[in-house]
Amino acid sequence: MRPTGAFPATRMRRMRRDAFSRRLMQESVLTTADLIYPVFVLEGEGHVEAVPSMPGVSRVSLDKLLAVAEEALTLGVPALALFPVVGAEGKSDGAEEAWNPDGLLPRVVSALKQRFPELGVITDVALDPYTSHGQDGLIDPKDPRGYVMNDETLEALAKQALCHAQAGADVVAPSDMMDGRIGRIRSILDEHDLIYTRILAYSAKYASSFYGPFRDAVGSAANLGKGNKYTYQMDPANSDEAIREVELDIAEGADMFMVKPGMPYLDIVRRVKAELQVPTYAYQVSGEYAMLKAAALNGWLSERACVLESLLAFKRAGADGVLTYYALDAARWLKEGV
Ligand code: PBG
Repeated sequence: MRPTGAFPATRMRRMRRDAFSRRLMQESVLTTADLIYPVFVLEGEGHVEAVPSMPGVSRVSLDKLLAVAEEALTLGVPALALFPVVGAEGKSDGAEEAWNPDGLLPRVVSALKQRFPELGVITDVALDPYTSHGQDGLIDPKDPRGYVMNDETLEALAKQALCHAQAGADVVAPSDMMDGRIGRIRSILDEHDLIYTRILAYSAKYASSFYGPFRDAVGSAANLGKGNKYTYQMDPANSDEAIREVELDIAEGADMFMVKPGMPYLDIVRRVKAELQVPTYAYQVSGEYAMLKAAALNGWLSERACVLESLLAFKRAGADGVLTYYALDAARWLKEGV
């Protein structure tokens, strides 16, 4: 048994009494180096479109994104995660636009890397922006339920990841939850001598209702309709399965491992870090942002304090970094200090 003190010799409030000893006892720290900023990018020029369900978040065209990237760098945020907004002309049953080397995403990646070589650029690998049905993979035309086909989808994802990496993406991040995609992507990258392109695996990605505002932002909600992703994303009831997913992605060659969503899944972050000791990331998703923002706009929560507390909680749970729509705000708040 662990020795433990007893009152009155032991008083837990002794160390909390003064700021200096509170600081000395602090276990977790949040810094700007822990933050990844997700951004929505549009075709065209001069566009800044507000996302109604995510006040404070916009979809922007490349020219506007360059200013955002510069600000991120200035604030010390290490990386951006890019999500393209694709119009109806870019959507099809076969999702071919996903690996078009002249498509929006590869053009944005190469422009960003050319202008800001030191900025980490992360791209999402999944077909949902490009499929006419809004699923992350290809569906079986003969199946009335529209089942997402695993092995056929792997070939499409491999082409998409290669296209991103050839455009200069530093990190490709498969968020599709197909079986075997990490291994397939690692081998196509290696065959093309892209041995330093990192893979951030969305290993433990849950079939969550907290993605609603994101699907509005990228315009996949309407295409998905009443469809759902239960045949490939994980059941929110499960935890052991998350560990198996991460173990498989380790074996297939992933470099970084994501748990998604974030705040309701801190137990999963904790288990992954404690049991597997890998670089672990959490995604504070669109619905989590919307909750915090809505309460803040109503004057019900103090935004700065609650956001910084939520981000620190990811660190305490074991995350090495957090994807959050609050990344730039949080970096500014951290810079200002208390
Ligand atoms: C799609 C993808 C989703 C998110 C990131 N990539 C949505 C989904 O799986 O339907 C959600 C992110 C967020 O809610 O902020 N592959």
